Amino acid sequence: MNTSEAPNPISTRLLQWYTPDAHGMPWRGCGDPYGIWLSEVMLQQTQISTVIPYWNKFMDHYPDIAQLANADEESVLEDWAGLGYYSRGRNLHRAAKKMVEEHRSQFPRDPEKVRALPGVGEYTTAAICSIAFGSELAVVDGNVERVICRHQKLSGDPKRGETKLRIREVSTEWLHPDRPGDHNQAMMDLGRTVCTPRNPKCDECPIAEDCQARIAGEPHRWPQPKKRRTVEKQQWISALFSWNEKILLLPGNTELLKNHPGPVLARSEGDLDTETALIEEFARRNLGTPVIIGFGDRFRHTITHRQLDVQPVLCSWQGPVPDEARLIDAEASSKLPVLHRKALQNLLPLLGAECEKDEK
Ligand code: ADE
Repeated sequence: MNTSEAPNPISTRLLQWYTPDAHGMPWRGCGDPYGIWLSEVMLQQTQISTVIPYWNKFMDHYPDIAQLANADEESVLEDWAGLGYYSRGRNLHRAAKKMVEEHRSQFPRDPEKVRALPGVGEYTTAAICSIAFGSELAVVDGNVERVICRHQKLSGDPKRGETKLRIREVSTEWLHPDRPGDHNQAMMDLGRTVCTPRNPKCDECPIAEDCQARIAGEPHRWPQPKKRRTVEKQQWISALFSWNEKILLLPGNTELLKNHPGPVLARSEGDLDTETALIEEFARRNLGTPVIIGFGDRFRHTITHRQLDVQPVLCSWQGPVPDEARLIDAEASSKLPVLHRKALQNLLPLLGAECEKDEK
């Protein structure tokens, strides 16, 4: 608790406006650094409404650091399936193990030690430490950037150079010395619900009075639009193997879904036909020769800046199934990442036909 500094008037107005339980976030008020960390990792690039059921599931399946660390990675990733960005799920598990080994299964309080956990960057450190331990660290995410850029009418890209530095300075000047966690969460709530990218609701904003962008009459013009990252179009093959009415999952080794087990993913580029691309991928992985049974409908799938055009292919396995492969029922596929589920969905008609053929 810091008693020497008076809060910035902006923060006083912000906290009068702040209603912590307005958005049904179960981690608010849980007071448990573990639960807060879990929520902040899940909230990276994911909407609150999507995160809520996953957070409840993780708190139920893995109520503390030790239980998360002791679970096998596969179960953790299965529980993570659907949240996307699988490296976050993998890092969560690694971080829990690190805390068991290096912090006696306790969540560290020191921001430097929190920052050293896998999957925790500057933003997540500030969020966790301010909310869980009252550390005076200002959170700067996209919502906070927008609020500050408008209030101060800052020109330039909020993620770069002078503008970025100024945003950090202002966020620290505004931070409430005694209630940094509430202040940070209020800033994020304000950006998400009131100071929205389009049609900001300035008449509901507690800091509209001295907001320079509102005074200029065009709040939506800040932050200044950044150059769009170009979307890269890529062609992929998703080769699903059926074996005795089951589906074969092989360890992933593309950077697309990291190492999540599933059908074999192969890039098909230029005028390389599907079959050749698949044969090359198999040779690269020492998996023998694929036998193609049929093709499903192509589908689109977007992963960050990549727009994938995916050709699903049903294959059968010749010879012994490799040790590293796993067999699952098609019904258990709900635990697979969305990209794999889409491929399976598009191959179901062929899979049905394949099973009938086996029965004869
Ligand atoms: N976004 C990420 N973490 C948040 C939090 N704790 N409150 C509101 N929005 C958030």
